[in-house]
Amino acid sequence: MNTKTETKRLTTRDIRLMKGERPIVSLTAYTASIARRLDPHVDVLLVGDSVGMVVYGDETTLGVTLDMMIRHGHAVVRGSAQACVIVDLPFGSYQESPAQAFRSAARVLTETGASGVKLEGGVEMEPTVRFLVERGIPVMGHVGLKPQSVHVHGGFRKLGENDSEALAILNDGIAIASAGAFAVVLECIPEALARKMTKTIGVPTIGIGASVQCDGQVLVIDDVIGLYGDSSPKFVRRYAELGEQVSSAAAEYASDVRARRFP
Ligand code: KIV
Repeated sequence: MNTKTETKRLTTRDIRLMKGERPIVSLTAYTASIARRLDPHVDVLLVGDSVGMVVYGDETTLGVTLDMMIRHGHAVVRGSAQACVIVDLPFGSYQESPAQAFRSAARVLTETGASGVKLEGGVEMEPTVRFLVERGIPVMGHVGLKPQSVHVHGGFRKLGENDSEALAILNDGIAIASAGAFAVVLECIPEALARKMTKTIGVPTIGIGASVQCDGQVLVIDDVIGLYGDSSPKFVRRYAELGEQVSSAAAEYASDVRARRFP
């Protein structure tokens, strides 16, 4: 008799249906080992293009390639069993046309086993999101601060603090949701705007630096566990100081080797 119980992975539909039911929990992950640790605790594992800054030490996410996202996406899917895994489409892999976006997203889904892709953009990306969803690719949107547009924004900063910016971001969220996205990330926007968007948009809003008013929250794992040093944004809450533990473990090991106490 086969007594092995199969873990059922959450689908993008499950995530969409969580709106109004319970807060959605999401963290980024880039490796199988970290995915394995996070998987029992989160609804969504996001393989973010923040991998470029966090893992590769870049100043922005712009240097991340589709092949990098596919390798990291593959690792996170292998390291997880129940979370819905979503992989970011990196800069330059989808903005040119819906057809380019489809080719990139299809590679992500077939080569990683992930359940969907995330892409940044608002009204201008509505046709692309619709094109992908109609062809079987679940899409998570990302509006507000869009790190791939950091040079247009003039830095990593809060957006939507004046009426015209707030209206544009609201319209971005509405456009992406009506194109068929199953959820939308709201990054670095004020609480009042997050509340309005969460009420207006029919799919879950997942906030990062966007207050408690969202349907769920996402954070970059290295920020949460203290591995990204002092560069973490102000809105982050640290739940562990692993950076300090790694340093002291390395220092202890070094002193043991130098004193011939190890092996
Ligand atoms: O790249 C990323 O990690 C992200 C999340 C922080 C939303 O887009």
